Amino acid sequence: MLKGKHIIVGITGGIAAYKTASLVRLFVKAGAEVQVIMTPNAREFITPVTLSTLSGKPVISEFFTANTGQWNSHVDLGLWADAMVVAPATASTIAKMATGVADNMLVTTYLSAKAPVFVAPAMDLDMMRHPSTVRNIELLRSYGNHIIEPAAGELASHLIGKGRMEEPENIFKVLDRFFEQAQDLSGKKVLITAGPTIERIDPVRFISNFSSGKMGFALARECACRGAQVTLVAGPVNLKVTHPSIERIDVESAVQMHDAVMSRFPDTDVAILCAAVADYRAKNIADKKIKREHTDVPTIELEKNPDIAKATGEAKRDGQITVGFALETDNEQVNAQEKLGKKNLDMIVLNSLRDPNAGFAVDTNKVTIIKRNGKVDEYDCKPKSEVAVDIVNEIVELFNNK
Ligand code: CTP
Repeated sequence: MLKGKHIIVGITGGIAAYKTASLVRLFVKAGAEVQVIMTPNAREFITPVTLSTLSGKPVISEFFTANTGQWNSHVDLGLWADAMVVAPATASTIAKMATGVADNMLVTTYLSAKAPVFVAPAMDLDMMRHPSTVRNIELLRSYGNHIIEPAAGELASHLIGKGRMEEPENIFKVLDRFFEQAQDLSGKKVLITAGPTIERIDPVRFISNFSSGKMGFALARECACRGAQVTLVAGPVNLKVTHPSIERIDVESAVQMHDAVMSRFPDTDVAILCAAVADYRAKNIADKKIKREHTDVPTIELEKNPDIAKATGEAKRDGQITVGFALETDNEQVNAQEKLGKKNLDMIVLNSLRDPNAGFAVDTNKVTIIKRNGKVDEYDCKPKSEVAVDIVNEIVELFNNK
């Protein structure tokens, strides 16, 4: 899938730089055209001669080629690339990419690049978990960059922990798969609900839940990257959308989410109901703040919210797919299967609250996917971005078998 692709390989000053020679070799062997850009520090770890020999092109590391005065255009490079990979990405380069400090050719090209960007961090474990690095990596993610998580193992410092650059073969596979799957949702319209809903009680209080929206947003991004036109109906969350193929509609309550979804559902190929919708709302919303000096403790009367997943399941016509989620604490598979039937879903993604790294607020998830035909697939605990890949693969399989 990489044949003919233009790939920029950015190398920064980390000990893992020597491994990037194999990555360049793998890309070239697969038929890709590779342009290596090195930061000045990277040259302390591996020579440009090795990389220019492997890539078949002079390595770029300065704004100007010293002996000719020729200007290396970061804009042209940014437009030329089908993908940019920064491997290894040091804490310093990640920080520069996150904040736009364009003081070398690599970061300048990054800022000009229109193509998908893959970042393979490599650093010591303490640097890796410093809040500054964590925040900068999150910023890169929010720009739509793909983070290739470092592996755990023995580091250059001889400490053991997370921070070792992912092996070149695996980085290669990530890109290969990216291009292979790149457009398998092309032409499809995807509708996704995400986050919690909030149900007002009075002007300052509400009923809600701990959903962060991360899973739904990861799904929206994955679908958009694979060619879909996505409508993301989001409850109140603290997340950003950057992909141009995602239209975001912000709502607050379950009723608003229901109305936004149902008005768009007829023109949808697949609806992914990922939101943690509040099951009940206050029957009457007080127009003034409920005061503490009440004569009695107030009772809040609740009424049922619409079930959005069920409503889409009922409205579904031939060819449309609905996917639900189930967050369960016990009898997980039985309950999930029951929801699949009751809501007329084609597939349900089960999270168990018994798994410590699954569910709300955390960045990882562990899911079991149950299809209408009874097929059950259990997945390992992974970052939500990777869980999104698994879920979308299953959805593509549903389309292929329709
Ligand atoms: N769902 C929905 N609208 C609701 C409630 C749930 O669209 N009012 C969707 C969720 O987005 C999820 C699925 O239905 O895809 C299951 O949600 P869950 O809260 O697990 O199920 P409930 O039907 O609310 O059942 P319970 O809370 O009793 O487990």
